[in-house]
Amino acid sequence: MAPDSSNARSMTLTPIAPSMGAVVSGLDLSVPLSEAQAAGIRKALQDHHLLCFRGLEMSAEEQVAFSRQIGALEVFPEEDKTKDENVVYNVANVSPDGEHMAIDDHRVTYQLVNARWHTDSSYRYIPSYCSIMLGIEVLPEDAKGGETEFSNMLMAYDALSPEMKARLEPLFMVHYYEYGRRLYPQLPPVSHHERVHVPPTCHPLVRVHPDRDNARSLFITVNAGNEISGMSLEDGQALHAELQEHISRPEFRYSHRWQAGDLVIWDNRVVLHRAAAYDMGKYRRVFRRTTVAGDGPVLGPFSQAIQG
Ligand SMILES: [Fe+2]
Repeated sequence: MAPDSSNARSMTLTPIAPSMGAVVSGLDLSVPLSEAQAAGIRKALQDHHLLCFRGLEMSAEEQVAFSRQIGALEVFPEEDKTKDENVVYNVANVSPDGEHMAIDDHRVTYQLVNARWHTDSSYRYIPSYCSIMLGIEVLPEDAKGGETEFSNMLMAYDALSPEMKARLEPLFMVHYYEYGRRLYPQLPPVSHHERVHVPPTCHPLVRVHPDRDNARSLFITVNAGNEISGMSLEDGQALHAELQEHISRPEFRYSHRWQAGDLVIWDNRVVLHRAAAYDMGKYRRVFRRTTVAGDGPVLGPFSQAIQG
């Protein structure tokens, strides 16, 4: 894509929190980015793990076009027969027709699964690179909750004791799409389409990042399983619970209080996120998410690509 003269200014990054994040200014996302600008965003994401653009109005088509400049998009496993591919995910307690849905509506219950620490699409053999989410309707300033909380898993790994690092090194967690149904049995069962397209998978608990000089992070979710491969159910779940407590430590975290028009991008390879509870019956909350696909399976300390 050719550089656009109306978008010639370079971007400015203003750090948000000690654990992660920068506010990006100086880029006009309503016009196509040059390849150098798209690479600049990917580099800023690599350095800061989370980026926030403010004051945007974007249609779904514009968000998809912007997201495709960052990378190829994931197609969501939920089947929508009206589309060839489903690349936009509505994170909302408001229906596409604008109706504020009841708290026991299945589409709202799905949001509760997102209230647990996770990284998007960990249930895939190749999980995502980053998520791109636009705040369309957000909670009023005086409302309680509704933030998206993030936790830095590079920091979380570094803070583990040497004994725990050694214990985790050979272990894998089982991730599966269907786990949300176990948490909320009132949800409709996983469809045949979903079952076929996202079978259970295992990822190393210690993720190694060749693009970061083989730095390590903790790779765990709380919304896609709680079992550790090769351990008894009881021991695996006890370890998972212990790690859940660890990843919640405040020093790893950043809580994003949404303003309408915020576009937040986070690196799913190194940060977890969760939605803070809010009064879903009282407040409307509408976000639109696109997800950029990862470029390979999760590598662990014993992966061939790491062992060389
Ligand atoms: Fe998520």
